[in-house]
Amino acid sequence: MAVLGATGLVGRTALAILEERRFPIGELRLLASDRSASRTLTFSGRSHAVTPVVAESFAGIDLALFTCANDVSAVWAPIAVEQGTRVVDNSSAFRYHDDVPLVVPEVNGERLDARPRLVANPNCSTIAIVMALAPLERAAGLERVQVTTYQSVSGGGSEALEQLEQGVREGLDGDPPPRAGGLPAFAFNVVPQIDRFEDNGYTREEMKIVWETRKILDRPDLAVTATAVRVPVRVGHGAAVHVTLRRPMSPAEARERWTGFPGIEVVDEPARGRFPTPLAGAGRDTVFIGRARGDLDDARGLLFFVVSDNLRKGAATNAVQIAERLAGLAAPLARAGGER
Ligand SMILES: NC(=O)c1ccc[n+]([C@@H]2O[C@H](COP(=O)([O-])OP(=O)(O)OC[C@H]3O[C@@H](n4cnc5c(N)ncnc54)[C@H](OP(=O)(O)O)[C@@H]3O)[C@@H](O)[C@H]2O)c1
Repeated sequence: MAVLGATGLVGRTALAILEERRFPIGELRLLASDRSASRTLTFSGRSHAVTPVVAESFAGIDLALFTCANDVSAVWAPIAVEQGTRVVDNSSAFRYHDDVPLVVPEVNGERLDARPRLVANPNCSTIAIVMALAPLERAAGLERVQVTTYQSVSGGGSEALEQLEQGVREGLDGDPPPRAGGLPAFAFNVVPQIDRFEDNGYTREEMKIVWETRKILDRPDLAVTATAVRVPVRVGHGAAVHVTLRRPMSPAEARERWTGFPGIEVVDEPARGRFPTPLAGAGRDTVFIGRARGDLDDARGLLFFVVSDNLRKGAATNAVQIAERLAGLAAPLARAGGER
């Protein structure tokens, strides 16, 4: 197995998850850029050298997890696939290609049965949102989905996380400094821009949620809108979701449907102060749902709040689940690991 982008936030989380779930690995190659040439990372108690990626890096590799940016994936995925490596890519470089499956195993895992050479791992917010939507879609059919996200800064990678931490330190004694290029600070702030603006006034992150929700649920006609917001949280994305269903569904029925769905935990006892928060969800593989309530004006409307760890189920855990299925591993082996 190879991990390209092993030194990054998702890469290091993927290594932890491979270890927790005892993924059987003969040889592990840790790949990154030239900047990491002298680094080592520990896996299963052994030190592994990180090497800059070159074409030969994929020789003899069955499975590669790509945890790097779009441009890096776009260059190396075809080279790896050409050499017979199966690639699970966390970037968005291939997500919208018709011939590349975009997979959340609990929702559309059957797309992996044909053992595709290249599989795209969806956007971090989209994974959790689609997990929450799938049981509702199956039980009642979705007509419309409106989402506002509350996304943690680790979603932007290691550099963004450092900017948050630096900004928090400096912001305790005055205004946190703006980020490079005059961009608004993450610390003590709420920033309604993630990724670049598209011509239609939406950000790319918002359009990822729209395109990917439709593709994963196989509902190209589904009405979806999104507002994606960065909040000064380290790890864990939240999303306030408002759906219109084809028939009325009570919050109680929705909770029952979610409870019966693998990978979801309902935390919804507002009277006891129990609802999902990023801080409680960080470090866990589960998608948490709470605050379920009916639309005040529409019997077919339902509102709820979803939380998941963006580095785990939002990225690395989902990618490792895909890898497990591509490798034909039985579920009990996966469960024997650190499903926390
Ligand atoms: N963070 C999240 O919550 C999240 C969620 C879902 C998907 N994703 C996606 O996952 C990918 C990785 O995100 P991240 O947050 O882990 O980013 P990150 O912390 O910035 O890590 C990026 C990784 O890519 C490597 N890299 C950069 N340039 C390279 C090059 N030219 N050749 C080879 N390797 C190179 C880096 O290696 P060096 O250390 O050598 O620079 C590092 O290992 C991105 O596509 C991101 O959109 C992230």
